[in-house]
Amino acid sequence: MTKDKLGIPMEGLADLARKAAAEGAVLLRNTDKVLPLRGGESVAVFGRCQIEYYRSGTGSGGAVNVEYTTNLLDSLKDNPAVSVDEKLEKVYRDWLIDNPFDNGGGGWAAEPWSQQEMPVSRQLAEDAAKRSHKAVIVIGRTAGEDKDNTYAKGAFLLSDTEQELIDNVSEAFGDVIIVLNVSNVIDMSFVDKAARPSSIKAILYAWQGGMEGGRGAADVLTGLVPAQGKLSDTIAYNISDYPSDKSFGGELSNIYQDDIYVGYRYFETFNKKAVRYPFGFGLSYTEFEIKSADCFFNKDSEEFVVKANVKNIGDYKGKEVVQIYIEGPQTGIGRPSRVLAGFTKTRLLEAGEEEDITITVPLINLAVFDDSGKSGFKNAYVIEAGDHFFHLGNSVRDTSVIKVDGSDSYKVDQTYALVQCEEALAPVTAFKRMVVGQPIEDGSYQEAYEDAPLRETDLAARIKDRLPKDLEITGNKGLTLKMVKDGKCSMEDFIAQLSVNDLATIARGEGMCSIKVTPGTASCFGGVSDRLLEFGIPLGCCSDGPSGIRMDGGLKATQMPIGTLLACTFDIELIEEAFTLLGKEMVRNRIDTLLGPGMNIHRHPLCGRNFEYFSEDPLLTGKMAAAIVRGIGKNGVFATIKHFACNSQEYNRHKVEAVLSQRALREIYLKGFEIAVREGGARSVMTSYNPVNGYWAASNYDLTTTLLRKEWGFKGLVMSDWWATMNDVITGGSEADHSRTGDMIRAQNDVYMVVNNNGAEINAFGDDTMEALDAGRLTIGELQRGAMNLCGVLMDMPAFDHLQEMELKIPEFEGADAADGHIGPVLQKSPRIMLDKEQDIWFFNEEDARFGVVSNLTFKSSDRAQTVCQALINGEELVTFQTNGTDGRWIRQKLLTVILKRGWYHLQLRFPKPGMEVEYLEFLEEKD
Ligand code: BGC
Repeated sequence: MTKDKLGIPMEGLADLARKAAAEGAVLLRNTDKVLPLRGGESVAVFGRCQIEYYRSGTGSGGAVNVEYTTNLLDSLKDNPAVSVDEKLEKVYRDWLIDNPFDNGGGGWAAEPWSQQEMPVSRQLAEDAAKRSHKAVIVIGRTAGEDKDNTYAKGAFLLSDTEQELIDNVSEAFGDVIIVLNVSNVIDMSFVDKAARPSSIKAILYAWQGGMEGGRGAADVLTGLVPAQGKLSDTIAYNISDYPSDKSFGGELSNIYQDDIYVGYRYFETFNKKAVRYPFGFGLSYTEFEIKSADCFFNKDSEEFVVKANVKNIGDYKGKEVVQIYIEGPQTGIGRPSRVLAGFTKTRLLEAGEEEDITITVPLINLAVFDDSGKSGFKNAYVIEAGDHFFHLGNSVRDTSVIKVDGSDSYKVDQTYALVQCEEALAPVTAFKRMVVGQPIEDGSYQEAYEDAPLRETDLAARIKDRLPKDLEITGNKGLTLKMVKDGKCSMEDFIAQLSVNDLATIARGEGMCSIKVTPGTASCFGGVSDRLLEFGIPLGCCSDGPSGIRMDGGLKATQMPIGTLLACTFDIELIEEAFTLLGKEMVRNRIDTLLGPGMNIHRHPLCGRNFEYFSEDPLLTGKMAAAIVRGIGKNGVFATIKHFACNSQEYNRHKVEAVLSQRALREIYLKGFEIAVREGGARSVMTSYNPVNGYWAASNYDLTTTLLRKEWGFKGLVMSDWWATMNDVITGGSEADHSRTGDMIRAQNDVYMVVNNNGAEINAFGDDTMEALDAGRLTIGELQRGAMNLCGVLMDMPAFDHLQEMELKIPEFEGADAADGHIGPVLQKSPRIMLDKEQDIWFFNEEDARFGVVSNLTFKSSDRAQTVCQALINGEELVTFQTNGTDGRWIRQKLLTVILKRGWYHLQLRFPKPGMEVEYLEFLEEKD
């Protein structure tokens, strides 16, 4: 592949990243209008993260190589309207020299949640207060893949040094602005605990804004962009107030007793007092009035159309997010007191300006899913008899009831089933789930519990009854995938040509860092053998995701803000526009699908990957994901929505089972995915590592067949997460293993990600597809169906057009005349080049020849940890290779084929992510 166009970030994308970073920052407090900083004001900036500003969380979701990054301090200094206390700046810069950033050694999930903070004495704060009137304190946090946050100082809580910093600065300054550069919500009690709480005049959740995060936050502080973000999660006073707190962090299972009562759905129904900042809340620098609100029901489209007028009645420009919540009847099966049913955002309104807005609310957004049959309609979306009030406002708490068709509510006389479904993915483990109990005086309800309905379906019978027909294998008839695309033959006739071995091969993706596709990416899939390529099946390329393109070899890309921040913009158009450009960057880098958006529900504030995800609310989650899918899709490339489903915690993520009701699945945990498929047109899905109700997600028939494909009409590719495990697709049970691809394919998880590079055809992972076929646990028709799902998507990917031009050129290197004074082995005598501690060695090649290069490596970590190595030869990249944890076993991996001309070679290894040990590279001569 030609590398010359790769790694060039897309013009204009960083500007949109900056815009989003600013528009998703949430202002929670702004006493005395301390913000925005006004012209010429001097500010003292505290906290090491003003310089070491976090751009993302850790793990695969944040690993974008960027050309630059921005921090808050320099971004404030770039703004002529602000003057920053440079004496204080020098104190920080000097201190950082002796206290450098601790990345925990750089290994997988090794980075600590926070950095040691610089102690700030009362004296230092007072001296700074003599030079500036206002103080900004930056508090930073991270978390990420394989590493949940913890309820500990320096993690969810402030460290003692941070609290002391806040104490001393709040005593010395009357105007303190806290900027939270965090991947997720943190404990906010530090504000009350500050030595002088009244000094804390402003609190800004700036999140992690990607490479433009520093500038985005500075834009809000200086008022260049008015504050406008709204919380996509509830911030409660105590972590124990979140109902999921009781089960989060389980070893082998999490019982979702909280059922549908996640986030504000719980707090508004049962526990209003526990809320510090409500969902949807965020201040502006101005005030808005929402008036003339009206709503009518359009019978034809089955939608409510809400119209209102929004006026900026303050003295600063701003944008407002208008939100609609439904309060449905509590006389039926019970439901949350508020459910977000629609939202929109105004354009930028100058002081005095107004705008008419329209929000449509589909009738289904008023429905509840009855998995018990209590409503009279089992396994149906039900519209219940009674009043449905429409609350319109700018947070879940700040709303007024609007009229619907001239009445106080939308009244339904009799309960009816709006959509009748079939039972799918019901729990098999008995448990009690939360339901609405007796009303109490403040308008909320007591918590009550009932038995969650369990599975009644015979899954074996369902699978058997719905088996696809076997296509008779015809052998090669000269049909190519292009002929299918051009309408010259059917997909069935095309697929019928593939042998069972071809079909087993195509279900294996190779990676990571395959040299067959863009360097440093997550996988190549599809045409993973010469035979498959000859049939015209292209090699697709996917890369992480979600915050930009991850290319571990070092190629540069644009890093976007984290998902939570994007959601806080509540701006569907902006997100779609930004990801349209990101899609262009993908085309440039020959990436067919991005492994994102991540869209699991924020069930608990400590989940390490919350930063990649959007919200506690499924509608907001789904709308954001759909915008990303559409934006990326405009360029003919794809987004892979992940992790399907219930990847709600990182601890033991490949084992911990989500046990939950069908209702919770339908209304909360799957709803966002459904929206991304139905509205966004998603055609690529990644399943999660964890089991859901007894079946690992990659072998979960109801998840990926009954719901995704049959009910939602998904037409596309389902891939597993990297090195996933599966269990018995029919009986479930606790035996999960990497090798169970037979069960995976039966569930319609089409591709296993990933086997070692060049390992698909030879079944390097020893998967059981062929055995399952022989044993009758899998049919040829099912195998063919998986291949059709994949090929249907592949022929719409850019890889399909590249196929014709694709020529896998064998890289060639010229040897040097001399070894620069070094000595080294001769390849023909000792092909195994042993690497010393320095990972730097010279060797001599006596004659021009072609070599297969094989590495012997180990990575003492678990099999979901990732690490990477870059081998340079005479200063040029020979190959970048990757491994998952080998638990200390030494493994041999063929890396590539090269042609080496006669001469001296200087081999050096670099480890952008430490952890891997390489004993040798072996150069095995290959004859034609
Ligand atoms: C993560 C996925 C990611 C994949 C490839 C897995 O560990 O869970 O989100 O896309 O690795 O990097």
